[in-house]
Amino acid sequence: MSQNVSQTATPRIVSTQEGYDLWSEIYDTEENPLISLEEPEVRRHLGDVRGLSIADVGCGTGRHAVRLAGEGAKVTAFDFSQGMIARAKAKAPPGADFVVHDITTALPLADGSVDRAISCLVVDHVPTSRLAPLFRELGRICKKDGFIVVSVMHPAMMLRGVQARFFDPKTGVDTRPESSPNVISDYVMAAAAAGLRFLHVSEHAVHAELAARVPRAEKYLGWPVLFMMKLAP
Ligand SMILES: C[S@@+](CC[C@H](N)C(=O)[O-])C[C@H]1O[C@@H](n2cnc3c(N)ncnc32)[C@H](O)[C@@H]1O
Repeated sequence: MSQNVSQTATPRIVSTQEGYDLWSEIYDTEENPLISLEEPEVRRHLGDVRGLSIADVGCGTGRHAVRLAGEGAKVTAFDFSQGMIARAKAKAPPGADFVVHDITTALPLADGSVDRAISCLVVDHVPTSRLAPLFRELGRICKKDGFIVVSVMHPAMMLRGVQARFFDPKTGVDTRPESSPNVISDYVMAAAAAGLRFLHVSEHAVHAELAARVPRAEKYLGWPVLFMMKLAP
């Protein structure tokens, strides 16, 4: 990131909601190797979305929601950060509806009302005990012939001391929206407990092409940075 403030070593942990409200100011301007790896995977799993109804659960600034609406999907997107939602709304094409909502509570959508549900780079902020209820909600809102795509920072990143964070543009302080130390089995067991079927599970490491293209990815060459699940109700 480019700014004229010094970056301090002591991280500041803030609530997830406050953290993303602050991060929203610069979220879309940062180069993020995790996003570079994740985006084509989500795109590949979702395929052609024209005419589909999609719920984006934890939508942030609308990275996926805006694209999907642009490609002809009817998107309903939820996030509890007013700042992130404001950014998403500012670039929303017709066909995208952004709603401020805490996704650890019941989702305001009817049973079987969407063809696809996605929750991308979010569940590392959801406490372990809340994962199964969230996945149950994703299964409830999804049509029986639909599916769910979940992406998350790989828990192996915790071994490198990495969690979601940014440098506050005003103070330079390393700021971390609160994360939950969930491991792979927490995600898998929560999906199983929610009664979901596994269509796909994968772990993705930084590969040479990404390391060469994205400077921040280089130090994670060969290291797992992304975990993905494709689930069915
Ligand atoms: C790393 S961002 C990812 C945003 C978007 N899905 C993407 O992939 O670009 C994580 C988002 O999850 C949201 N989030 C985390 N916990 C949440 C909760 N309990 N309810 C609603 N949103 C939440 C944050 O506000 C933030 O916008």
